[in-house]
Amino acid sequence: MKSERVLVYGTGARDHCLADEYIESKHVGKVYFVPGNPGIEYTAKGRRKHIERVPIRDFSDVAKFCKENKVSLVDVGSENPLDEGLIDVLNEAGIATVGPRKEYVRLENDRAFTDDLLREIGVPKPEYKVFENPEEAKRYVRNIGYQVVVKTNGLAAGKGAIVCNGVDDAEAAIDTIMVKKKFGKSGDQVVIEERKYGTEISFFAYLDGEHVLPLSMFAQDYKPACDPDDKETIELLGGNLNTGGTGCYCPHKLVKPWLTNRIIKEIINPTVNAIYNRLYWKYKGVLYFGLNLDPYGRLDVFEINVRHGDPEAEVILRKLQTDLFEIGMATCEGRLDTIRPVWNKNYYVDVIAMVGRSKDESGGWYPGYPGRYGEGYKITGLEHLENRTLDPGVAIFFSGVDSHPERGLVTKGGRVLHVVASDLELKRAVEKAYRNIEKFAFLDHNNNNANCMRFRRTIGREI
Ligand code: GLY
Repeated sequence: MKSERVLVYGTGARDHCLADEYIESKHVGKVYFVPGNPGIEYTAKGRRKHIERVPIRDFSDVAKFCKENKVSLVDVGSENPLDEGLIDVLNEAGIATVGPRKEYVRLENDRAFTDDLLREIGVPKPEYKVFENPEEAKRYVRNIGYQVVVKTNGLAAGKGAIVCNGVDDAEAAIDTIMVKKKFGKSGDQVVIEERKYGTEISFFAYLDGEHVLPLSMFAQDYKPACDPDDKETIELLGGNLNTGGTGCYCPHKLVKPWLTNRIIKEIINPTVNAIYNRLYWKYKGVLYFGLNLDPYGRLDVFEINVRHGDPEAEVILRKLQTDLFEIGMATCEGRLDTIRPVWNKNYYVDVIAMVGRSKDESGGWYPGYPGRYGEGYKITGLEHLENRTLDPGVAIFFSGVDSHPERGLVTKGGRVLHVVASDLELKRAVEKAYRNIEKFAFLDHNNNNANCMRFRRTIGREI
């Protein structure tokens, strides 16, 4: 019977997707999306009445709401509320949750800590060194000679890793993070890591304090803001192409059973073993692993996060057939050893519509995400959701959106909406995603309503 109520805490497309997946559960009749975003009003008609947006933020109000509305499970989708201790507040009030306690968010918000842990237990990762002083960091990049990635040592909304093309670039990145403090206090320390070339592989595992459930389904995330041959956008953004992800697909073309075994043996098992038996943490929630596979077959851990990846969740969770509520409850109750993930046969492709070049109020230009971008652009094409005129197998998830009294749903962020398409063949799923994203536009009211939407053309096409 669909009598259970779930609360998903978050504001982005990953959280929108989680809300959508919980409502698919045979146990769940209602999902509260808190504080949510107004895009949820535009989701498929049939679901709308089962997913309710509740725009409260304060953690004690959320706990009170859960009690009053008999919420059985809360899933916290993003790192900031986890870092601010939402799980601790809810557990204190006796509410069942999916997500780690504040103390365990250290795995994501203190890269140096996690890197040291991985190095100690022999999990492969690129060479790295941690700095608190920008001059010492610059001296280091000048001396080592190889290319690097400069990373903040704290949370930075997935944007705190700057991929550098040489020493000048690396010195500029150190200035951006440590001197100009683009990411605030997260830039007090930097981790300088050897730059690796190859293919990104992302996946998730659920932990229940005792067991691990690896979701052996791998996605490829595309981090650069534009395609490698898009010279115009590269120039416009001044080479600052680093984003939290511009699209992805799954299953990953390169991950075959032999590689899955290696990932479980070389990466998941030792990491989880260290969490349980070295740190003695009762970690309950999701772990995200971002890996690199180089052309010689070497695997390296790029990052570990304490929640689902965004946009990876939007493809992996849609492919998952196992009831998400059952996984969530098993996570809380230490029963993950009883769950076997089941997957449908489709490929899933997520292409993200970003705000591109647009005019500012004084007639100048914004370069667009991940550089400076304007806000409040009317989103057109929403009638396709209402009228169900998107292709079958296409779902839209919203992230940076807001309601405007005259313009309706408008942009309020760099990454605005995700078009997720599925098909039995990857090529057809890719074509479907691109055919459907063209049905939307962001109208730049300072530029005769020109469309300022931008998206990559190579998601799922190039490895
Ligand atoms: N897509 C990378 C992340 O969610 O951190």
